Amino acid sequence: MSITQNREATAKLRCISCGATPESAGQDFRCTACGDLLEFFFPGWNLDTPASGQHSLRAGGAPGVPARLDGRDARYSTNTDPAALKSLWLNRRTSRDALDQSGVWRFRELLPHIPEQHVITLREGNTPLYRLPRCARATGVENLQAKHQGMNPTASFKDTGMTFAASSAHQAGFRWVACASTGNTSASMAAYAARGNMHSLVLIPEGKISWGKLSQALDYGALTCQLRTDFDGCVRILNDLVRQKPVYLLNSVNPYRIEGQKTSAIELLEQLAWEPPDHIIVPGGNLGNSSAIGKALLEMRELKLISRLPKLSIIQAQGANPFYRSVREFGGKKLEPMTADTLATAIQIGNPASWKKALRVLQATGGEVEQVTEVEIAIAKAEIGADGIGCEPASAVTLAGLKKLRRSGFVKPGEAVVLILTGHQLKDPDFTIKFHRGDLFAGVPVAGTPNETEVAQAKYLQRAPVVLDANLGAVIAALDAAERNS
Ligand code: F0G
Repeated sequence: MSITQNREATAKLRCISCGATPESAGQDFRCTACGDLLEFFFPGWNLDTPASGQHSLRAGGAPGVPARLDGRDARYSTNTDPAALKSLWLNRRTSRDALDQSGVWRFRELLPHIPEQHVITLREGNTPLYRLPRCARATGVENLQAKHQGMNPTASFKDTGMTFAASSAHQAGFRWVACASTGNTSASMAAYAARGNMHSLVLIPEGKISWGKLSQALDYGALTCQLRTDFDGCVRILNDLVRQKPVYLLNSVNPYRIEGQKTSAIELLEQLAWEPPDHIIVPGGNLGNSSAIGKALLEMRELKLISRLPKLSIIQAQGANPFYRSVREFGGKKLEPMTADTLATAIQIGNPASWKKALRVLQATGGEVEQVTEVEIAIAKAEIGADGIGCEPASAVTLAGLKKLRRSGFVKPGEAVVLILTGHQLKDPDFTIKFHRGDLFAGVPVAGTPNETEVAQAKYLQRAPVVLDANLGAVIAALDAAERNS
């Protein structure tokens, strides 16, 4: 089975390496000529700038063809200048329509077209942008905000890509969808498959994902296979499977995933009144999210929705740092796969599929790549928690990375920084409880030995639960002791 593009499609597929533009994609979403990844581009974006200064964002078809005749329905705006698009998207926030209420489909003018009857939405996106005052003080970056993608329906950023890619599976008529995952993709996929009456197959590395994520996939009714391997081993098996069985691949090599995930950056810019921050900082695992955010930034600049590019920086855990090493050691010329090891299990990935896409956006935006230790991740996570926000461990690499980028001078104190928090705090409560009890790193070789400052920082943040007899005096004594130490 192949996934054919809508005949009137305004978006086309292109290979990122050889530039081939196939009419359809195979089930592995790889270029049949050279085997590399595919991406969408939009030849229909007719960006002529007439004397009036009105930009024409023509959604395909021959020039001058009225909107409704070019294959899209009336609910897509065409021939619009950037200001009109911005106000259209803002107005949709007050609509009762499911498409408009989704923080992904609200921006549908910048996405490939999927007919409405195939849309599967849980009103994803619409995630908050929070100030982080304590973290701002700790990093010396006054203008520090976090876009919390953990506030999505299944509590991770994956929902923004999944609504779009699951809808494309529905449009293509698949009964089964499948992914290999470190936990969040599987939770998201299982939910969207259930909503769209499709079956889902999850391949996860046994013992290497958090219970919260595993429990989600079970509850949403996925066929969940825990394989005795790591994430990269699960990916290998899935790639072989989709070549033999009619199952639709929902990993981020699927370019529909990337399109949906683009919208988090569009929404962010809207929240910032279209004034780009100086830096956006994201965690790097399989590198789909950084590729998607970078693609959105470049497209927004092309469409004149923004006038300059933020620098997009990517942070990896030191124990799962193949991209960091690719950039720092090999100048991005090659990526050496590795056996990954980190307690931030979401990003325990040794052979990231989208590294070439991520490299391109890193270079195009002038971003930086960094790596952070297990201890740095744990401290950063507790700091984000102490700001009353919280996130899962993989998301906290952003704050830990920001500290390093401040020290190196890449981020200046007066600059505006946005961290992308990718997953909710409750995704991995085990990690949090162990940190506060002080036994997170017991028997974990990859953690290394914390230095004196780190030990002091961790102690300052740790809030182990206090077990007391059930009497008022004991509680008052605990309260008084806490007040003295505060
Ligand atoms: N943060 C979280 C919470 C994640 O779950 C992931 C990836 C990432 C960051 C990294 O994003 O892969 O696009 O670079 N999780 C995938 C999964 C791999 O299967 O849930 P990436």
